Amino acid sequence: MTQDELKQAVARAAIDYIVDGEIIGVGTGSTANFFIEELGKVKHRIKGAVASSEATAERLRGHGITVYDLNDVESMAVYIDGADEITSTGAMIKGGGAALTREKIVASVAQKFVCIADGSKLVPLLGKFPLPVEVIPMARAVVARNLIALGGEPRLRIKDGKPVLTDNGCELLDVHGWQIAEPKLLEAQINAIVGVVAVGLFAQRGADVALLGTAEGVQKFTF
Ligand code: 5RP
Repeated sequence: MTQDELKQAVARAAIDYIVDGEIIGVGTGSTANFFIEELGKVKHRIKGAVASSEATAERLRGHGITVYDLNDVESMAVYIDGADEITSTGAMIKGGGAALTREKIVASVAQKFVCIADGSKLVPLLGKFPLPVEVIPMARAVVARNLIALGGEPRLRIKDGKPVLTDNGCELLDVHGWQIAEPKLLEAQINAIVGVVAVGLFAQRGADVALLGTAEGVQKFTF
């Protein structure tokens, strides 16, 4: 099976987690995009969705799904999203698609976080994938110095010769060189740096369920 077929398989499996008549939180990235396709097929079953990025909102609308502003939604049963890395305890690195802050915000409102990913994302220790940190642009240098003091190697995310800007108009530092043994502690330490908007460590609030695509089928983990 190709990686895309594995992503499609978990996207299909995630449909079992939608709750009829409710609003669904939807993540960002290629796996989330496969999920949106599946969601489009059953859109009559849901009230609508809250999107974790402008790109996801546009794609949801393209499938005829009503997109709600999070300010108008008090709670949701489930948030479904991909990950760049996930451990066997449900801690994740996210933000490869630059949507980490909104992903964290939408996930915080959901009762259940269902992570969908191909099996290659399961790792014993987080950190091989550079850890994204969203920063207020004027704080980029001071935040970088603080990340270096914590032992990381931050690099500004650049695309087409320019800093990548998030949907919030902020920049991203991708932190290399970490093997993250204590993700909850590192998440708290990075959150405490002034100028950080959010860190792509999802450990304090990790996944509740992971659906991982493998050649043997979709493997389900509950945390
Ligand atoms: C976007 C994310 C994505 O969930 C993560 O990058 C995984 O993406 P993909 O499904 O394309 O592998 O965190 O900010």
